[in-house]
Amino acid sequence: MPNLLTDKVAIVTGAGGGIGSAIAARLAQAGAVLSLVDRNFASTAEWGGHASTASVVALVEAAGSQAIVAEGDAADRSVAAAVAEQTLAKFGAIDILVNCAGGVVTAADRSFASTSPDEDLDTVFRANYRSTVTFSQSVLGVMRQQGSGAIVNITSGLGHLSSRDGALSHYFASKAAVSSYTTSLAQEVGSFGVRVNAVLPGLILTPRVAAQAPDRGAVRPEQLQRISLRRYGQPDDIAKVVEFFASDLASYVTGQVLAVNGG
Ligand SMILES: NC(=O)c1ccc[n+]([C@@H]2O[C@H](COP(=O)([O-])OP(=O)(O)OC[C@H]3O[C@@H](n4cnc5c(N)ncnc54)[C@H](O)[C@@H]3O)[C@@H](O)[C@H]2O)c1
Repeated sequence: MPNLLTDKVAIVTGAGGGIGSAIAARLAQAGAVLSLVDRNFASTAEWGGHASTASVVALVEAAGSQAIVAEGDAADRSVAAAVAEQTLAKFGAIDILVNCAGGVVTAADRSFASTSPDEDLDTVFRANYRSTVTFSQSVLGVMRQQGSGAIVNITSGLGHLSSRDGALSHYFASKAAVSSYTTSLAQEVGSFGVRVNAVLPGLILTPRVAAQAPDRGAVRPEQLQRISLRRYGQPDDIAKVVEFFASDLASYVTGQVLAVNGG
């Protein structure tokens, strides 16, 4: 298998999490050097995820590559600008951006559509949508100058649906916004050589999901029967598709939102 991303420079947000760290490892294996961002690289430590920034960097180094790291809120413009600047200074280019930061991030039991408080709406949109917009805008100047670049957003299978009971309402809405932004941005920036796509995961068994799913009524035997491949996803199932979108294998693919959910 050839290295699809030899000498490419990739920024990954949410790199401390289950899916983000798997993406970092896979891009590193494919030959890319990495700039990793998270507001807390140990955010999933209590569920058996990464315990520190160093353990995520070690993952990249074990794959034969190198990484620089920044801890901060991906929705913060000063964080995004600093990461873009540091990445350029260290590696000389920005070829790939993976916007993976986000998640449910507020208490599920007060996330119902009819009652969810304003502060939760703002928190959820900031983590999922604003971080995607902020980081995309921070790298587009460089990509435009290069005449090339690939942005891969992580949206959600739930973004195209509402929940059956109204729970996680703002999470679903924020991911629908990410999907919509993906297609708008792709139309705008294609003419200067930048591709923008999104991966839409089904239920992926990250350390956090595996620990929280029973309480949230997920990972039930009857749910498995609704998945064609009869298994839940693993973080690397998502990382493989991110690698495809980031590479030249997808050179004529833009504005797509691809479900990776086992069917
Ligand atoms: N796991 C799933 O089943 C699933 C399904 C669909 C979509 N997703 C999406 O995949 C992405 C990764 O999810 P995961 O399951 O790996 O979750 P995770 O909780 O393991 O990782 C998410 C990471 O994002 C970081 N983060 C959150 N908000 C941030 C911010 N504002 N700035 C910087 N970092 C921030 C967290 O600290 C955490 O390390 C998320 O966008 C999530 O919505 C996950």
